[in-house]
Amino acid sequence: MREFKTILVTGGAGFIGSNFIRHVFRKSGYKGKAVNLDKLTYAGNLLSLTDIEKEYGGTRYFFEHVDICDKAGVMKTLKDTGADCIVHFAAESHVDRSITGPGEFIQTNLIGTFNLLEAAREFWKDRKDVLFHHISTDEVYGSLGDIGYFFEDTAYDPRSPYSASKAGSDHLVMAYHHTYGLPVTLSNCSNNYGPYHFPEKLIPLMILNCFEGKPLPVYGDGMNVRDWLYVEDHASAIWKIITDGKIGDKYNVGGENERPNLEVVNLICEIAAGENGKPKDEYKSLITYVKDRPGHDRRYAINCDKLKKELGWKQSVTFEDGLRQTVRWYLNNPEWIESVRSGEYRKWIEKNYAARD
Ligand code: NAD
Ligand code: DAU
Repeated sequence: MREFKTILVTGGAGFIGSNFIRHVFRKSGYKGKAVNLDKLTYAGNLLSLTDIEKEYGGTRYFFEHVDICDKAGVMKTLKDTGADCIVHFAAESHVDRSITGPGEFIQTNLIGTFNLLEAAREFWKDRKDVLFHHISTDEVYGSLGDIGYFFEDTAYDPRSPYSASKAGSDHLVMAYHHTYGLPVTLSNCSNNYGPYHFPEKLIPLMILNCFEGKPLPVYGDGMNVRDWLYVEDHASAIWKIITDGKIGDKYNVGGENERPNLEVVNLICEIAAGENGKPKDEYKSLITYVKDRPGHDRRYAINCDKLKKELGWKQSVTFEDGLRQTVRWYLNNPEWIESVRSGEYRKWIEKNYAARD
């Protein structure tokens, strides 16, 4: 089992990154430090980590307000912290935004990853006791028909600007391993859901719209299929891979929980109604079919046997339980929702971090 002294988490203020940092401190048994390097785009929210900041801030948890496209800033952070592991989440992550504005996706996902790899290579030189773990997506494999699965050796066939930028970054990571011997691991994951999910993505958007009696916009015929994974299970998978994964290997991570979007939305309606003390079908009339996403991938389904067999990982919650916990989390955290929507959290950041920047 590999051990690290200081893990640099890029994009740690985002949805999965913040859940991963919480997992590292609360569940993994890790005794070292974690540095959250984040640009704090619209999707980055330090309020997602106030509990961690309160308990470990300044001793084992640190925040660095840095853009991964700024190589000097990244180099300074590496030198200041002496990080021996990088877990790279930072990205533009929303497919719809990549359709209307692909430029940021190329910049952060491709150029930013390149910068980070260059900085790691320069800082670590030929060290072998270090690790660069890259977080990627099942979307790099393209779109499936009614049958079949994505395996680790499935050929890449990205079809949106988002997935193309992620595919490019995956290739760069592997190229740095093969060409320069940089110790890397890579994971390709299906759709995450859970607490701290930015409410532009399907599940949190539908939950909040149910609570607020707003239309539930279903793209196309609602029969596009996604595989859903609880974010805490993704965090535990990443921990397994960085500590026990084979250097130079890639691992698929999935929920083994395929659902058509319409089924997901109906389930959310039922759970949200139950949690709000309303009749089961109360919110279903809000479902509204809207224009489809251009180039909308039809089906993703991931085979994650390698991770299960080689590293002994498994999912911990059923979709119904995970979704119920998620609905409850959104019901119980109105301040977080308000802060994300109002931009109020930026004022909090300015107040708390201005002195450090
Ligand atoms: P997110 O959009 O919630 O968070 C992204 C984080 O990266 C934010 O904190 C943002 O401020 C930060 N960031 C963006 N650009 C940056 C830059 N230039 N420099 C530094 N920080 C920057 O994303 P997420 O859903 O948590 O996804 C995290 C990673 O996981 C991404 O790489 C994404 O491609 C991948 N992924 C996500 C899912 C999913 O279902 N959400 C599934 C598979 C893979
Ligand atoms: O598969 C992994 C990917 O999952 C990640 O790499 C991405 O970062 C992440 O955003 C997610 O991408 P999707 O496009 O699958 O997620 P999204 O929540 O945007 O959409 C899920 C499905 O729901 C998709 O088929 C589009 C549909 N949808 C989405 C929204 C926002 C709707 O029908 N209505 C909506 O309003």
